[in-house]
Amino acid sequence: FSHAVNSGVSPRFLHTNSTSHTWPFGAIAELIDNAYDPDVSAKQFWIAKTVIKDQDCLTFMDNGYGLDLRTMHKMLSFGFSDKTTVKGVQPIGIYGNGFKSGSMRLGKDAIVFSKSKSTSCVGMLSQTYLEKIGAEQIIVPIVCFDQTKSDKHILDLMQ
Ligand SMILES: Nc1ncnc2c1ncn2[C@@H]1O[C@H](COP(=O)(O)OP(=O)(O)OP(=O)(O)O)[C@@H](O)[C@H]1O
Ligand SMILES: [Mg+2]
Repeated sequence: FSHAVNSGVSPRFLHTNSTSHTWPFGAIAELIDNAYDPDVSAKQFWIAKTVIKDQDCLTFMDNGYGLDLRTMHKMLSFGFSDKTTVKGVQPIGIYGNGFKSGSMRLGKDAIVFSKSKSTSCVGMLSQTYLEKIGAEQIIVPIVCFDQTKSDKHILDLMQ
């Protein structure tokens, strides 16, 4: 179980930062760009709307390379982007902000699930959670399971 800490960044910044998208389609474009970028190389992208416990919920799914603990950490923190051109495909992402601004423009809470051959990971960026615990800085819970081990215990303890 890992708690990535965005040191010193107030939870209120999540909303402030999201207002850079005046139009929700710009926010959706951030998520599509991330799936298209060469570090993920998704060939398909699905958008759906569903209702979970009376809450409207948008889901975005891609069939790209997915995330492990390190990239989940990057995805939910600010300012980490190390994308490079792969086979002539230039990355769109550079700032390390698009997922945070885009997802928080579309909803107050985001849960990211990823599954690959070796690991399964869940991470959460949730304004509701941070408000409920009275957090003074943004913390993002991440849980990763090692799929290669039969006893599927929780993989990592960080920070
Ligand atoms: N769909 C995805 N699949 C796998 N990894 C992803 C996905 N979306 C984001 N990531 C990871 O999360 C990181 C942060 O994404 P984010 O959009 O916040 O920043 P960025 O794309 O690097 O830069 P920019 O702010 O210009 O969009 C990415 O660099 C990538 O490593
Ligand atoms: Mg991006």
